[in-house]
Amino acid sequence: MKLVFATNNLNKLKEVQVLIPEHIQLLSLKDIGCLEDVPETQETIEGNAIQKAEYIKAHYGYDCFADDTGLEVKALNGEPGVYSARYAGTQRDANDNMNLLLENLKDKPNRQAQFKTVVALNLHGELRTFTGICEGNITHEKQGEQGFGYDPIFKAKGFIKTFAEISLEEKNTIGHRGKAVKQLVNYLNKI
Ligand code: IMP
Repeated sequence: MKLVFATNNLNKLKEVQVLIPEHIQLLSLKDIGCLEDVPETQETIEGNAIQKAEYIKAHYGYDCFADDTGLEVKALNGEPGVYSARYAGTQRDANDNMNLLLENLKDKPNRQAQFKTVVALNLHGELRTFTGICEGNITHEKQGEQGFGYDPIFKAKGFIKTFAEISLEEKNTIGHRGKAVKQLVNYLNKI
């Protein structure tokens, strides 16, 4: 089975690739000649994941899945949430985003947050979604060099290291994307 993973994010691709069984041939957007930005203009994480998965099917005809992720911070009423990528502006810079989040949490004692990933699968004309959540806390400063995005300032519940200080395998075991993709794989294995 050929399945497109609708992302240009190489970090996401690396995390997901190791979870997909060998009988499924994972294609990237580059592989199918999709070089434009895939629109993600919805107001929810679910909406964006579905929009991306529908766009690829409609424009390229491939069965595919897409992931949309947001970091929801309790003391900020769930922000940045669906706006996580452009929290500090349209430059979509990870350091700017983390700096703004740390600044906005400066005086807040509650550092609770969760990552939420929704994977939308568009297979044989049917849409299905899989959700993965990882609860944790925002640190007071950046720690670690691995991972991407907000990883240096997020510690999963019960962990003393941030997502940027653990291996990809560990992040996949406890992380939001790993949880969502494992549900996707379970589903694909059953059909
Ligand atoms: P999107 O799902 O690519 O739209 O990501 C939204 C924002 O969340 C971007 O700023 C990403 O860098 C960030 N992000 C997505 N997944 C992760 C993750 O696993 N760890 C840390 N940040 C992430």
